[in-house]
Amino acid sequence: MDLFDKCYAFKRHEEVKAMGLYPYFQPIYENYGPIVKMDGREIVMAGSNNYLGLTTDPRVKEAAIEAIKKYGTGCSGSRYLNGTLDIHIKLEEQLAEFVGKESALLFSTGFQTNQGAIVPLIGKDDYVISDKDNHASIVQGTLISKGLWGSDVLVRYRHNDMQHLEEVISKLPLDAGKLIVTDGVFSMSGNIVNLPELVRIARKYNARIMLDDAHGLGVLGKGGRGTANHFGLDDQVDIIMGTFSKSFASLGGFIAGEKPVIDYIKHHSPALIFSASMTPPQVAAVLKALEIIKAEPERIERLHYNANKVRQGLKNLGFNVLDGQTPIVPVVIGDDLLTFKFWRMLFDNGVFVNAVISPAVPQGMQLLRLSFMATHEDKHLDFVIETFEKVGKELALID
Ligand SMILES: Cc1ncc(COP(=O)(O)O)c(C=O)c1O
Repeated sequence: MDLFDKCYAFKRHEEVKAMGLYPYFQPIYENYGPIVKMDGREIVMAGSNNYLGLTTDPRVKEAAIEAIKKYGTGCSGSRYLNGTLDIHIKLEEQLAEFVGKESALLFSTGFQTNQGAIVPLIGKDDYVISDKDNHASIVQGTLISKGLWGSDVLVRYRHNDMQHLEEVISKLPLDAGKLIVTDGVFSMSGNIVNLPELVRIARKYNARIMLDDAHGLGVLGKGGRGTANHFGLDDQVDIIMGTFSKSFASLGGFIAGEKPVIDYIKHHSPALIFSASMTPPQVAAVLKALEIIKAEPERIERLHYNANKVRQGLKNLGFNVLDGQTPIVPVVIGDDLLTFKFWRMLFDNGVFVNAVISPAVPQGMQLLRLSFMATHEDKHLDFVIETFEKVGKELALID
């Protein structure tokens, strides 16, 4: 069997394309925040993680441009050697302060951040304990640990099921090093982790906690300080991880925690040491976004108003909308083809959302994932609700 045989045999995407229903890799030609240009038309974007609407904010764009003028377009090397700028250090200091930790460390993407933190932390006799629905970047990090040290190091528990977590963790040696890793806000469902219970279990069984707050920072907690802050548990979470590709209007990621822990990761993480650092415009954009997040908390209020308005509107129409308190609004459709069809009809009518099928969600839970921005106006939200009503009726999903 040739290595590439599986590639030549892979036809599912072509079949869906032939039906005109393929929802992925759709190019955006111009981006104005809530409105984008796709397929030669203006479309309401209801599927971006640009939660605070800052990727198109003139102040953020200007900061990025100024950074290019001062430092150039890239760093051409890793943080470890020749790729550290003064603004990398400034951003690390500001992020540590923002999430209430001693120290922070930047990585070039959020994906790399999870891998980059988990791999050096988990040694031969340690355990990483991971929620089954954690983001793929956590999964990859844990699989590397498993590859390095054997299958015993990786223990998984049912999604947000604290009873199961306690069951699996109680079987591990009490004095062994343990890291519980969880998303703060789960990216597909918008579920928030049961952090109070997770903290109780971690303390009881001598485990450390790493919280991936990609979708919580800038969204939950006081002034957007994230999921731990939302529960008043900032000091109980050992490592907070965040990405810049959502509320922070850029690309990259960070971890924050105690200084010796951050220093250790800084000197042992292949994902950090062997990868070029965040580019100047990316760093400058995050610095400006952070300044705006602190100065304009009303953006967060508006974001929640927007998401709640659509969540309620779609529920009132009879759609199966998962409950939540985040800007993520999942509408369960329950079938691959119907999800693609619904997606296509929304797109044809001027609304972009994300089509999510298995394995990203379990079979039967195929869904349309809507996500909102602080910069959506009521007219955009009304249009999304009206379009859902129209398409839902045409497909006989609602009366
Ligand atoms: C929960 C979670 N963690 C990590 C990441 C990875 O972040 P990035 O896309 O910035 O690399 C994402 C984004 O896709 C995410 O949703």
